[in-house]
Amino acid sequence: MQNRMMITGAGSGLGREIALRWARDGWRLALADVNEAGLGETLELVRAAGGDGFIQRCDVRDYSQLTALAQACEAKFGGIDVIVNNAGVASGGFFDELSLEDWDWQIAINLMGVVKGCKAFLPLLERSKGKIVNIASMAALMQGPAMSNYNVAKAGVVALSESLLIELKQQEIGVHVVCPSFFQTNLLDSFRGPTPAMKAQVGKLLESSPISAADIADYIYAEMAKDEFMILPHEQGRMAWALKQKNPQLLYDEMISMADRMRAKGKPA
Ligand SMILES: NC(=O)c1ccc[n+]([C@@H]2O[C@H](COP(=O)([O-])OP(=O)(O)OC[C@H]3O[C@@H](n4cnc5c(N)ncnc54)[C@H](O)[C@@H]3O)[C@@H](O)[C@H]2O)c1
Repeated sequence: MQNRMMITGAGSGLGREIALRWARDGWRLALADVNEAGLGETLELVRAAGGDGFIQRCDVRDYSQLTALAQACEAKFGGIDVIVNNAGVASGGFFDELSLEDWDWQIAINLMGVVKGCKAFLPLLERSKGKIVNIASMAALMQGPAMSNYNVAKAGVVALSESLLIELKQQEIGVHVVCPSFFQTNLLDSFRGPTPAMKAQVGKLLESSPISAADIADYIYAEMAKDEFMILPHEQGRMAWALKQKNPQLLYDEMISMADRMRAKGKPA
């Protein structure tokens, strides 16, 4: 029976809601984050929801912290069945405004954090014939304007997930990749970008979501049960992706006018 899950970025937002969704089925959860106060709150909620587990501070940029987390899962749970590489940060800015440091920071967390999570837990997953769930974004598929470093990191997560889907089939390890559109969480707290105006624009996009982080966790749960590889929780996202596959130029044109609108809004009055 599979009932042990590890989640990075579990101290807030989607990571917390995924923990609670599986806690309701009595799962044991290894909850990791750099935000220890948030982790403590998540564990309390997990226990109230019917699950249990432990918390561990883990910065996904540091491979040794991820291997230590894998060892803790081994020691406390005797292994792991599902890992959710969810920890992430937000960023924005047109390409000419982004520094190389902005790129390094974004890639180190949102892309290499996922690579390192998969690598650190692979030996445990091989034994349990477990599952990898990588949290990417619609940004991976749509390449919205003024977030090229985020787009590239998340597109890398999709490419990694596709590669692992193919390569790990033989070891009977399942792979899923999740691409949500914007939804309301604390993601803006980590935002790194050139201007307060850009941050405010991203904030409005997060608020505009018709679905919550809890809805997304429910959707992931249902799609995993159907063994779906690519999980697109927003209806609008599913429509946009279908449209882009048929007619990419249409989407590029839409993104170009969106970039023009954003530039106009970002200009000082
Ligand atoms: N909110 C959205 O609109 C949205 C849309 C698409 C994808 N996503 C993705 O969903 C995932 C979860 O984000 P969220 O929206 O719940 O945001 P959130 O900020 O509420 O949660 C992210 C968590 O990741 C943690 N974290 C950040 N850097 C870390 C690091 N180096 N090591 C370990 N933990 C770290 C934060 O402390 C935080 O608790 C992210 O990968 C994000 O890119 C979010």
